[in-house]
Amino acid sequence: MSLSLPSQLVVAGTISWVLLSLYRKFFAPSSLDNLPGPPPNSLILGNLLQMYNRYAWDFHRRLIHEYGPVSVVRGWFGDRIIYVFDPKALHNIVVKDQYIYEETPLFLSFHRLFFGHGLLSSLGDEHRQQRKILNPIFSINHMRHMTPLFYKITHRLQSGISRQIASGEKEIDMLGWLTRTALELVGQGGLGWSFDKLDSPEPNPLAETLKALVPTVGPFFPLMRYVPFFAQLGPAWLRRKIVESIPISRVKKMLVICDTFDSTAKEILESKKAALASGDETVTSQIGEGKDIISVLMKSQMAGTAEDKMSDEELLGHMNTLLFAAFESTSGALARILHKLSEHQDVQERLRQELITARSGQGHLSLTTNLSLSHILRQSAERPCAYIPLLQSLTDSMETFTDVISIACVFY
Ligand code: HEM
Repeated sequence: MSLSLPSQLVVAGTISWVLLSLYRKFFAPSSLDNLPGPPPNSLILGNLLQMYNRYAWDFHRRLIHEYGPVSVVRGWFGDRIIYVFDPKALHNIVVKDQYIYEETPLFLSFHRLFFGHGLLSSLGDEHRQQRKILNPIFSINHMRHMTPLFYKITHRLQSGISRQIASGEKEIDMLGWLTRTALELVGQGGLGWSFDKLDSPEPNPLAETLKALVPTVGPFFPLMRYVPFFAQLGPAWLRRKIVESIPISRVKKMLVICDTFDSTAKEILESKKAALASGDETVTSQIGEGKDIISVLMKSQMAGTAEDKMSDEELLGHMNTLLFAAFESTSGALARILHKLSEHQDVQERLRQELITARSGQGHLSLTTNLSLSHILRQSAERPCAYIPLLQSLTDSMETFTDVISIACVFY
């Protein structure tokens, strides 16, 4: 069967475009070639599989020690990715000039599909507007206000672990305890809701489900670059039907996790609304004081004019985003810190002494004292070691290079 002339032109054009793109990626010189970096171990996936897997520590260490604070690794089909772990550069990329280095379409679509409309799925003006509403609750002043609440919860954790040790338990699942604690911290501090009394060593089903998100999604990593495409395939109900029909247990588990986030946020919102409507004093005064995140959001929803009024959908998106962002990162980072401290008992001892000295004469450390601590943590931050890496991909939206550049930031 011979193709018509227009079809031949389309095929020839597509093949030329693919070949030209591959030539540019693999052979055309780029200013990024001046940066050091390891050779790719796959023509298609570059260094991606070495970077993203649960045993990737050695690879990250090698990148840091052999190639320095800024290097280049290869992504899909030879894409060059700048790999950064220098604290000053990271501050510029993530904080100071964050609107230049924007999240990738994959990052945005993924968070939009899982959590809805929140900070992790918005860019530019929309993101600025959301931050304007949320900034007061991330201020130092607000944190100072929240410190007693955080102490109350961590004391419950302390009692829970002490009781478990007293009962003769030899092995304590610290990640389990810390996941539950982080959930309770964001629950009370963020959503004005208690998820876990921390009064028994039994796992919390909600924490277990939410915590399974990253490991469940992980193996789909090679397919993730198609998420932005999938996100545009018709309306949400149709996409859901397609996902529901996939006979893979991991996909089914992903749906359950996604639905759990959704139903948890909805339950909290509905119950707060109902309490507010019936004049429940606790909730009314809580909303009035605006201590937790959802209260701030509900206040802005109530005060908004018809045009800028935040919809329930947006509110739910923020709640889901905060729930995920706060508890997954905090529990993982704390567990990792404890793990490293258990391996380096001398550092553990120095840190303990530092805390005892700082606490002498006062029951709790104030937030200011906490922030001025710790010599040890400061020293650690100056050392080139990936202890708590959080690998984050961003793109340079200014397109100052011939291609949009990708940046992988390692937070440690
Ligand atoms: C050790 C703990 C934590 C680590 C390592 C961490 C790390 C990060 C990183 C790397 C980002 C940037 C993601 C991006 O590119 O947009 C981020 C964003 C965010 N995190 Fe955390 N985080 C931690 C704790 C928390 C907590 C406790 C909360 C909430 C109470 C939180 C809420 C958020 C939110 C809302 C964003 C999105 C900010 C925005 O886009 O404006 N995180 N976090």
